Amino acid sequence: MDARDLLRSVRMAGSASGLRATRAAWRTRRLDARDLPRRGQERARVPGPAVDAEAMPGGGVVRFARSRLQIRVAVGGALFCGWDGAGPEPSYALAPAGALHGGAGGGLPEPDSRAVLEPDKDGWRVVSERMTVAVSTHGAVEIRTPGGLLLRRELPPRWWDAAGPDEAAPSRWVQRSQTPADARVYGLGGRAGGPRLAAGTYRLWNTDPGGAFGPGDDPLYVTMPVQFVVADAGCHLVFHDNSWDGQVTLRDGEEGAGSGHDRPGGCEVRMDGGPLRYWVVAGTPARVLSGWTALTGRPALPPRWALGHHHSKWGFGSQQEVRRVVAGYRERDLPLSVVHLDIDHYDGHRVFTVDRRAFPDLPGLARELDGQGVRLVSIVDPAVKAEPGLAEYDAGLAAGAFVQDARGREVEGVVWPGRAVFPDFTDPKVRRWWGGLYAERLGQGFSGFWQDMNEPVSFAAFGDPSLPRSARHSLEGRGGDHREAHNVYALAMARAAYEGLRELRPEQRPFLFSRSGWAGMQRYGGTWSGDVATGWEGLRASLALVLGLGMCGVPYSGPDVGGFTGAPSPELYLRWFQLGAYLPLFRTHSAIDGGRREPWAFGPQVLEHARAALAGRTRLMPYLETLAHIARGTGAPYVRPVWWNSPGDRALRECGDAFLLGDALLVAPVMEPGSRRRAVRLPRGLWYDTATGRAHRGPAQVLLDAPLDRIPVLARAGTVLPVAGADGAIELEAWAPRTGRSGSGVVFTGDPEGWAPPRMERFVCRWDDGRVVVEQDGGGDPPYRVRVRGAGA
Ligand code: GLC
Repeated sequence: MDARDLLRSVRMAGSASGLRATRAAWRTRRLDARDLPRRGQERARVPGPAVDAEAMPGGGVVRFARSRLQIRVAVGGALFCGWDGAGPEPSYALAPAGALHGGAGGGLPEPDSRAVLEPDKDGWRVVSERMTVAVSTHGAVEIRTPGGLLLRRELPPRWWDAAGPDEAAPSRWVQRSQTPADARVYGLGGRAGGPRLAAGTYRLWNTDPGGAFGPGDDPLYVTMPVQFVVADAGCHLVFHDNSWDGQVTLRDGEEGAGSGHDRPGGCEVRMDGGPLRYWVVAGTPARVLSGWTALTGRPALPPRWALGHHHSKWGFGSQQEVRRVVAGYRERDLPLSVVHLDIDHYDGHRVFTVDRRAFPDLPGLARELDGQGVRLVSIVDPAVKAEPGLAEYDAGLAAGAFVQDARGREVEGVVWPGRAVFPDFTDPKVRRWWGGLYAERLGQGFSGFWQDMNEPVSFAAFGDPSLPRSARHSLEGRGGDHREAHNVYALAMARAAYEGLRELRPEQRPFLFSRSGWAGMQRYGGTWSGDVATGWEGLRASLALVLGLGMCGVPYSGPDVGGFTGAPSPELYLRWFQLGAYLPLFRTHSAIDGGRREPWAFGPQVLEHARAALAGRTRLMPYLETLAHIARGTGAPYVRPVWWNSPGDRALRECGDAFLLGDALLVAPVMEPGSRRRAVRLPRGLWYDTATGRAHRGPAQVLLDAPLDRIPVLARAGTVLPVAGADGAIELEAWAPRTGRSGSGVVFTGDPEGWAPPRMERFVCRWDDGRVVVEQDGGGDPPYRVRVRGAGA
C-alpha cells in the first residue's frame, strides 16, 4: 500500500460504501493471488544472429537464432513489424471490416506488393514509396525517409520468458529505440502534462485518478501506445499494438552544436506481456493522420447538434430543474444545443432506469426540449447493480454476460449503485445484448450517449480501482484475462453502443463519447477530459488533452468547462468558456458538490462575455461542420498543434498554449489569471488578428491584446472561411491573401443527422485590380454572401 492508497482507505473507512470498497479491494487481492500465474524464474532472450530471410508480398520474414521478424508494408504506406510470429491480427485497434461503420473502411490493408525484402550490405532492406526499412543481422530496424533521413532506429528487442514451472506467465519485453536529437513526441492518449510529452515515464493503463486530476496525474482515462513524433527529418507515428499494462519512457535528445556528436532522442517501450508488434506511418502530419485513421478507422461524424453548446450537471435532481436551466438560457437569449443527464436521473444509480419521482415524464421532457432545439444526452455506466429481480442483472446473469473469475463466478465490484457486475464487452454476443439495451434510452427520448466509468472503475480502498487482473474475458473467443482486456474494455463498450444504435436507429448517426478508450476509439465517437480539477492548471491540462488525443486520431473531445470540482472564479470560468467555444466538444459540467456552471452564475460581466463566446461559436458552426467532415474523411483533427503546417519550425514544437482550428484559424486562449495581453508564436505566413484586422507576419512571436471579453484569434491570410450570418445562412469570410498571392477554402454541407454524403465546395480568392475577389473553384460567383476582410501586405 503506498501513501496515496493509505489516504484513500482512511478516507473511505467508516462509511458503508467505504466498507464495501475496502472489502472489494481485499477480494481483488485474494483473487489475483489465487488465479494469476506467478512470475517466477525468467530467462532473458534477444533475437541473436540472423539465420536467413524470405521475401513475401509487402516485405518478408527474417529469421534469427531465437526469434523472427515479419515486415510488411501495406498499400497506403503503413509499415508493420511483428516479432516472434506476431501478425497484425487479431487487434482491437484495426477497424473491423464490414458495412456497419458507415463507410469508415476497415479490415487489414493489403500488402504493397511492390515492397520486397532484399539483401543489403549489413542485412536486408525493404524499399517502399514512403520509407526505407533496413534490418540488421542482429535485429535492429532502421526506418528512413525515401531521401535517406533517419526517422527511427529500433534496437534489437529483449524478452523475459518464463522459465521452469511457471510457464503460464507471459513473456515480458522491452523495445528501445532512437529518434533524431531534435525529435519531440506527442500523444500516448490523453495526457494532462502534454501536449508535447516531456522526458519521463508514462504508464499504459487506463485509470480513473479518483476525485479530480491535475497536471501531475498520470496515467488518466485514455492511454494508448501511440506516439506522434515530429522532427526535422519528418514526422511519423509509431503504434505498439499491445493492450497489456506497460510503460513508455521518453528521453530528449541533445544536439552537439555542430560538433557532429548529437545524442539521439530515446524511447523505451516495456510491456508486461502480449505481442511485440508495431506499426509506423510516416509523412506530413496530414498524411500520418490519414494513414493512421485508414488503418484504425475514420472518426465518427457527430450530428450537427453535437457541435453546439452542451450544458451538463451531475445533480440536476429533477426535471423541473432541467427546465429551469433551459429556460435560463432561453430567457437570456443564449444558444443551447444539448443537455446531459447524469447518474442522478437513474433509479438508485441503476443503469438503463429512470427515477420516476424526480423525472416522471422523460419522453415528454425530451419532446418539449426538442421543440426548443435542445437534445438530451444520457450518461451510461457499464456496471450493473448486482440485484436479483433487476431485469438487466437477471438477463445478463442468465446469458453469462458478466465478467467472471477463473472459477466461473461473477466478479463483483463496487460502483455508484453499490455491489455491481461488469458486462464483458470483449464478447461479441455480450456487445449485441448490451447494444440492444439502448432501446430503453431511445424510448426515453435521448439522442446521444455519454459513456462513463469504463476504465472500468470499481471503487477500491487500496490497489487499482478496477477489476482483478485475473478476471476472465472472452477476447473475441480467444480467452484471456483482465491484464489484456483492461485497456480495450471501454473501446469494446463503445463498439457495443455504436453497433446497437446503428441497428436501433439506422437512419441517424450515433452520437457517443466515452471517458475511457484506446487506439481506434474514434470510429465510434469522441471523449472528454474527465474530472479535470478546477484551477488554471486544469484549464491548461484540458487543452493538452484535446491536442494530444487529436494526434492519436481522436479528434472530437473537450473539457468540463469551468472544471469538474469546486467553484471557479469568474475569470477562470470565463477564460475556460472562451477556450471551450473553440473546441469540438463544448460542454459545461460539474460534480454534484461542484458549483454552478451556467453563464449567468458569475455576474453580469461574465454573462456578457460568455454571450459573445457563444455568439462566436454559433457563427463558426459552418466551419466546425466542415472540420468534422474533414476529420471524417482524412483523420485530420479540428484542433491541431501550431506546427501542423510547419513541422520544421522547432520553436513551435514546444508551444502548448495555442492551437490551429483547422487550416484557417489560430486560437490563443488565455490560461493565466490577470492576463490581458499575451505572447503568441506565429507559424510562417501572414496572420490577421480577427478582432482588430491587424496583420502580423510569421514566423515571429507577437504580443496581442486579450481583454476580458475575448481571446486572441488569428486568421491565415488567403483563407476562405464559412461562417453563419445573422440570419443563420452561410457566408464566406475571406481574409485577403498577401498582395499578389491567392488563397482558398472548402465548405462541406451535409445531412445534419443522417448518412447522405456531404457536398464539398471549394472557393478561391485572389487579388484583382487592387481588390480581393472570391470565386468558385473553376469560376463563377459563390452561391453565398461574401465578406472580405484584411488588407493584405
Ligand atoms: C464521473 C464522471 C463525471 C460524472 C460522475 C457521476 O466522475 O467523470 O463526469 O459526473 O462520474 O456520474
